[in-house]
Amino acid sequence: MSTLTNRRILLAITGGIAAYKSAELTRRLKDAGADVRIVMTRGAQEFITPLTLQALSGHPVHTELLDAEAELGMGHIELAKWADLLLIAPATANCMAQLAQGKADDLLSTICLATVAPIAVAPAMNQAMWADAATQANLDTLQARGFHIWGPGQGIQACGDIGYGRLLEVEELVTHCQQMFESGALAGQHVVITAGPTREAIDPVRYISNHSSGKMGFALAEAAIAAGAKVTLIAGPVNLATPERCERIDVVSAQNMLDASLQLISDADIFIATAAVADYRPINPADQKVKKTPSREEFTLHLVENPDILATVANHADRPFCVGFAAETQQVEDYARAKLAKKNLNMIVANDVSDPSIGFNSDNNKVTLIDQTSSTSIGPLSKRALADKLIIEMANRQKAQQ
Ligand code: PMT
Repeated sequence: MSTLTNRRILLAITGGIAAYKSAELTRRLKDAGADVRIVMTRGAQEFITPLTLQALSGHPVHTELLDAEAELGMGHIELAKWADLLLIAPATANCMAQLAQGKADDLLSTICLATVAPIAVAPAMNQAMWADAATQANLDTLQARGFHIWGPGQGIQACGDIGYGRLLEVEELVTHCQQMFESGALAGQHVVITAGPTREAIDPVRYISNHSSGKMGFALAEAAIAAGAKVTLIAGPVNLATPERCERIDVVSAQNMLDASLQLISDADIFIATAAVADYRPINPADQKVKKTPSREEFTLHLVENPDILATVANHADRPFCVGFAAETQQVEDYARAKLAKKNLNMIVANDVSDPSIGFNSDNNKVTLIDQTSSTSIGPLSKRALADKLIIEMANRQKAQQ
């Protein structure tokens, strides 16, 4: 899986001949896993139709600042908040001038002022316009304000001139987007993550388990990889594709998960336990399928406590930096804080699984990150976006301890 999986990229297209390339750019960003929404200026619509971009992005295209219908769906402030990255490609000389002046007289310029997401500008214009002192001054202003400037490239232009002013190639723009999300905060670290549920056999066809989908753990694996870590996922039975560049060990029961974790301890720098491990398992799973007996109205299962994987790792002589998750339905922070102390953890991430819009099997989560001295609320966010923030928090705390 690429670093753009589930990334929200707002692609803004302005009015230049290179606008035709934004169709291919949209397709390639989507292929890399990004969710792409499109903003087009009036000029852009002279070169390529909104319908093309709508078909490729799978979303309505946004063109007007004052459009009552659009504001009901996703208005300029929602778009500004939605984006993880705002990419303006192609960006004309006029667009750069507008941004440098901080204008808010159309949809794009307004979003640029309203967003806290990084803004990347991919200029495309005639070589003389690019070299002009006004454009160069605008460029300096944008760079000083933290805009990312990607390009322009050099070569023969649509007008026949040769020089700087070509929109970067689509592959180069996609690579820039991918690099933007790679923080390097965990470069050289080995992160081991448990994810998903465990299954505890009752007999060969039945088991005790829970609703964990593995999404939170897999999102953390992607985020850790994007931050430069080597990642091993120890996954219970889940229906998720393995992230790119990730080692995966599939397990079934809590005992399997513990065995796999112990194998990796001495090589791990950070251990993150997102798995929803069954606390108990049947003492003696039956060898054959348990048959229904007509005279028996009740069936009693005898359970025994499972080993606590996270506590075992956190109390090991070779312990890595240990991060737990706490799935609670009430007194979320109090119970999580008790687990932080009892299991000897460096950090715990508490989530309220009584809310179906977050927690088990949802795409979003809202958590409280708790350590010995602080408690920070994060979200609601997509699990992938949340994972990025959690990884940075973990990396900072782990470094502070070294
Ligand atoms: O997988 P998803 O559908 O995306 O859902 C995500 C999630 C809700 C499962 C996840 O965010 C989460 O909260 N994971 C922890 C679930 C849990 O079992 O919490 P707990 O409070 O029971 O356990 C506390 C910690 O101890 C957890 O880190 C757990 O992995 C660990 N543990 C618990 C029991 C045990 N026998 N061994 C363990 O390692």
